[in-house]
Amino acid sequence: MNYQVFDTYEALSQHAAQFVLEYVRQHPTATICVASGQTPMLTFQTIVAQAQPGDFDQVTFIGLDEWVGIEPSNPGSCRAYIDLPLITPLGISPERVSFFDGLAEDLEAECQRVNELIASKGGLDIIMVGIGMNGHLGLNEPGTSFDTYAHISQLEEVTASVGQKYFQSETPLTQGITVGLKHFLEAKTAIVLANGDGKQNIIKRVLEEPVHEGLPASALKIHSNGHLWVDSAANPA
Ligand code: PGA
Repeated sequence: MNYQVFDTYEALSQHAAQFVLEYVRQHPTATICVASGQTPMLTFQTIVAQAQPGDFDQVTFIGLDEWVGIEPSNPGSCRAYIDLPLITPLGISPERVSFFDGLAEDLEAECQRVNELIASKGGLDIIMVGIGMNGHLGLNEPGTSFDTYAHISQLEEVTASVGQKYFQSETPLTQGITVGLKHFLEAKTAIVLANGDGKQNIIKRVLEEPVHEGLPASALKIHSNGHLWVDSAANPA
């Protein structure tokens, strides 16, 4: 695992954005799985600001996860967190974007659809995610098998309560639908980003604990091209 500390959130975001831009210029048909949440916001804005016409014309984007039961138009949905700052300003056409439908009647079929899409692309080129306070990646909660593709997860209390920060009013969150850790491990490049001192404790755990399924982000340590990029505030003292 390549661990890198950047002085500021801005420097971290610039690095992540530059990585994506250089990758798509060399691999124009890349498939990229991106996370919602607050961490990648500045990376998304930087990508949009620095993209050249044509950079993303053939790129496919896959949304990492969604809250089950939350409509896509809800500003707190995972979809909104990717669509508004990244997909819409880049002008990506709808057939090259896939988001989980958290309202799907058949959630298993929805998982299957995304599994088949990723497989049809030959796997993910880049998966770029934040990290939860409990070490989750996407909505792969502690205890999730590393051998799992897209699936429905039962949210831990901490995820349901931290998740309230995305919503304007109290919103019950009990289940998620998410790309799996096997997708993460099979991606050509896996990137975990963290910023702010609230993430110090979980970053310390990732650095110090052995690889185990109780700490989903520890999967990064067995990835052959895994990167943990943090700002100095998230770097354990
Ligand atoms: P955040 O969320 O980027 O808003 O901190 C990350 C996560 O919970 O996975």
